[in-house]
Amino acid sequence: MSLETKPKKETDVDTYKLPWVEKYRPRVLDDVVGNNEAIERLTAIAKSGNMPNLILTGSPGIGKTTSIHCLARALIGESQLKNALLELNASDERGIDVVRSRIKQFAMKKVSLPAGITKIVILDEADSMTPGAQQALRRIMEIYSNTTRFALACNLSSKIIEPIQSRCAIMRFGKLRDEEVLKRLIVIAKKENVKYTSEGLNALLFSADGDMRQAINNLQSTWLSLPDDRDRLVTADGVFKVCDSPHPQVVMKIIGFCNVHQFDDAAKELKMLYSSGYSAIDIITTFFRVVRDFGVFNNGGGYGAGGDNSGANSSMMTISEGKKLDYLREIGITHMRVVEGVQTLIQLNGLISKLCKIGM
Ligand SMILES: Nc1ncnc2c1ncn2[C@@H]1O[C@H](COP(=O)(O)OP(=O)(O)O)[C@@H](O)[C@H]1O
Ligand SMILES: [Mg+2]
Repeated sequence: MSLETKPKKETDVDTYKLPWVEKYRPRVLDDVVGNNEAIERLTAIAKSGNMPNLILTGSPGIGKTTSIHCLARALIGESQLKNALLELNASDERGIDVVRSRIKQFAMKKVSLPAGITKIVILDEADSMTPGAQQALRRIMEIYSNTTRFALACNLSSKIIEPIQSRCAIMRFGKLRDEEVLKRLIVIAKKENVKYTSEGLNALLFSADGDMRQAINNLQSTWLSLPDDRDRLVTADGVFKVCDSPHPQVVMKIIGFCNVHQFDDAAKELKMLYSSGYSAIDIITTFFRVVRDFGVFNNGGGYGAGGDNSGANSSMMTISEGKKLDYLREIGITHMRVVEGVQTLIQLNGLISKLCKIGM
């Protein structure tokens, strides 16, 4: 498996400064992990040499942009990539005028390509294009379909206008599984000589929640945050410090108190967490993930000590499946309020009071 982006020279300084997400961005479809069905379809397209207009949709950091690039490279070939590929992402101006001028110009341009191969326009984060610009795009897609095909990447396919959706093959990308992210992290850690504990890796998986870009970035920033000495080691505490998200062990403890109906203790811990500066959204998201992963968490897949775990006992840490579902429901309701803008400690207290009452 060729993992690294090809350095121009082994000694090229720039490759050392590259963020690891770029350095280890897959160059061929075979190296993109997860979403096997979508990747197989893309591989088949690469083999057939005939690319339909495409929409790749799904959450961030799971390989949509990477896959499109791999496909384009496979179809067009490295040497013609510069001439036959136009990429516009959200930071580029992509209003109606640009669609009419730049994309149209590119679509009209003559490039010598093998028979059957078309030029490709990549529109990254296409869901941020205005409906007007999308309408203009639709016309161009139609008129130049003999010579130019489009690949759109987006988080929400519903933000792409219907007429474009119906002209495209839609491929849905799901979040990556923890095993898939883990495997890649280990490979990268080895290449970069990063030492880690298994709790450290678990912490990376927990905070990334299926987002490979975030997992790799967090690995690198945690590593860079550590002093360069013999003890340098990626641990769970190190990861949560860098990710700046509440330590799940602390949230665990709060839930443990709720489990045995000790509201005062739960509220005290919660207040401490809140006053250390975490936003209500961060806290509630961690609540959700901790409860969702409760079984995994308790069966040795832990995230490290997280400092103080005093006052916790084993009966606090066992939750029945039914109770877990009730908890998730309440967390969901509070999440909604918090997202709507009521980000106060009172809301969070309301949540733990509800959790305390469950099973009373
Ligand atoms: N499925 C994957 N396999 C391998 N690496 C991945 C995968 N998804 C994301 N990455 C890593 O994360 C980075 C960002 O991925 P990208 O394709 O830009 O995500 P998206 O477009 O879905 O937001 C890549 O450079 C790569 O290092
Ligand atoms: Mg992308």
